[in-house]
Amino acid sequence: MKNILFVPSSPRGWESYSHRIARRIVDDLKARDPETRVIVRDVARQPLPHVGAAFAAGRAVPAEKQSDADRKALALSDTLVAELFAADVIVIAAPMHNFTIPSSLKAWIDHIVRPGRTFGYSEKGPQGLVTGKKAVLVLARGGAYSQGPMQAFDFQEPYLRAALRFVGITDVEVVYVEGVALGEQALSQALVSAEARADAIVRKLAEPVSEGIRAAA
Ligand SMILES: Cc1cc2nc3c(=O)[nH]c(=O)nc-3n(C[C@H](O)[C@H](O)[C@H](O)COP(=O)(O)O)c2cc1C
Repeated sequence: MKNILFVPSSPRGWESYSHRIARRIVDDLKARDPETRVIVRDVARQPLPHVGAAFAAGRAVPAEKQSDADRKALALSDTLVAELFAADVIVIAAPMHNFTIPSSLKAWIDHIVRPGRTFGYSEKGPQGLVTGKKAVLVLARGGAYSQGPMQAFDFQEPYLRAALRFVGITDVEVVYVEGVALGEQALSQALVSAEARADAIVRKLAEPVSEGIRAAA
């Protein structure tokens, strides 16, 4: 692994549980391979604009037919798409806000889901073009949604998985930091369990190419 794209989205900065656990993953991966490069796209600290009329129009125009105005409207999106393609691993840290992701992260998704760039259409329907990537989602929630009666209210994990799958990213690991608002004991349990899961994911991501594949090569 060489390039990590780290996308924190909590407005709480270093106080954020999703940020803290995701940072642990990024730092541990870098410590295991110091040549790893990390691009940080902090959508809370440096919010992306909501997409506007010029973007919506320019997005549908094939590259060879774009006007200067289209290219200008798509310039930021082009940068974000390039960051996505350059990454081997995408680590997204997301708080749950009203059952889903923060609008700052939704703006990032609006910029990176691009026809002709990150997805296309074939006879079989839409096809993701961002292949060969791994993603890690660190999802912080006040309550518990991974199981139990609130599961149906979780529009955070299914949405993120669907958006990533749509652009071709299907290899997705998830860390829950959930129940953080359910008292001190629940919070410390949530952090211990998230750290253990984060460490297991780091070990998995840092594994060398499997011996079987190497022997066959
Ligand atoms: C605007 C806002 C909306 C929230 N909505 C929910 C929610 O729908 N469900 C929930 O369990 N927690 C909710 N919370 C609590 C956060 O998910 C929780 O504090 C979590 O730790 C935030 O992640 P962070 O620590 O990475 O910032 C909300 C918090 C804020 C600030």
